[in-house]
Amino acid sequence: MKIGFIGLGIMGSRMAANLQKAGHDLVVYNRTASKAQELVSLGARSAESPAEAARGAEVVITMLSTPDVVKQLTEEFLPVMPKGAIWIDISTVNPSFSREMGKLSAGYQIRFVDAPVAGSKVAAENAELLFLAGGKEEELTDMAPLFDIMGKKTLYLGEMGNGTNVKMLINLMLAQSMATFSEAIALGKGMGLAEGQLLNILTATPVVAPVMGLLKERLLDGNFDVNFPLRWIHKDIMLALDTASELSVPMPSLGQTEALYKNAMDSGMGDLDFSAIYKALT
Ligand SMILES: NC(=O)c1ccc[n+]([C@@H]2O[C@H](COP(=O)([O-])OP(=O)(O)OC[C@H]3O[C@@H](n4cnc5c(N)ncnc54)[C@H](OP(=O)(O)O)[C@@H]3O)[C@@H](O)[C@H]2O)c1
Repeated sequence: MKIGFIGLGIMGSRMAANLQKAGHDLVVYNRTASKAQELVSLGARSAESPAEAARGAEVVITMLSTPDVVKQLTEEFLPVMPKGAIWIDISTVNPSFSREMGKLSAGYQIRFVDAPVAGSKVAAENAELLFLAGGKEEELTDMAPLFDIMGKKTLYLGEMGNGTNVKMLINLMLAQSMATFSEAIALGKGMGLAEGQLLNILTATPVVAPVMGLLKERLLDGNFDVNFPLRWIHKDIMLALDTASELSVPMPSLGQTEALYKNAMDSGMGDLDFSAIYKALT
């Protein structure tokens, strides 16, 4: 399949590599062009603009940082995509934005699927992502082979925007769990308990999210090398708060959590892993 892949950051570069290795015909674009080099060595072609990546593509995939960046780049790639082609947005954005992009695409006779992912750098590399896909059944069926190459499972969630809906919920819980866990460890340390012991005991209890068990060794080693940038989980909290505001759903504890991640960003932790909130709080 002829695929234009736009956004070769931590996630996009690895997902695109899996599509390329599976034999698809990729034209890739990234603002920082040097990040395309590895894909070029695998056989992809590097484009100098989003439009060049999208021209003639059957499918355009975007894996970009924020809704604003996605919106900005649509101005370049949507007008040149062949009529009837599909745009899959994998970036983590907010549901009303996904629906807006669906309408915008329809104006160009482009079919749209929102398919954000759960799973981080290693899952992207090993093609073990969980896809959360929203859109018309026909489009989702057409795209299933691509999801299967990049991920281990796809949840088909019905209408457009539902993929993004579920992604918001997952990431707000990830942010809150990480902060709550960090505060519990801080208090435990204040009680005079050993950090390693606390990490082992708490992660063995059902009240702790399983992801903390996966992060345990890194937390103990003080390893906050980036898999999922802290600045992007802060962005996701803001998007969830915006969504809650649109729906008039109060989210009092999420507002508190937002302030914690904002402080961590302001103290220079934005480019560390999101789990660096542990470092900030313990
Ligand atoms: N990392 C994770 O664990 C993870 C997991 C699931 C979902 N996500 C989501 O996936 C998306 C990408 O995340 P990531 O971790 O891959 O982030 P990343 O490494 O920071 O990549 C961001 C991408 O957006 C591009 N970009 C940013 N600003 C731009 C602009 N003004 N114009 C053009 N391109 C721009 C970057 O280009 P440059 O390379 O030139 O900066 C890069 O390709 C985010 O929405 C994130 O929330 C991340």
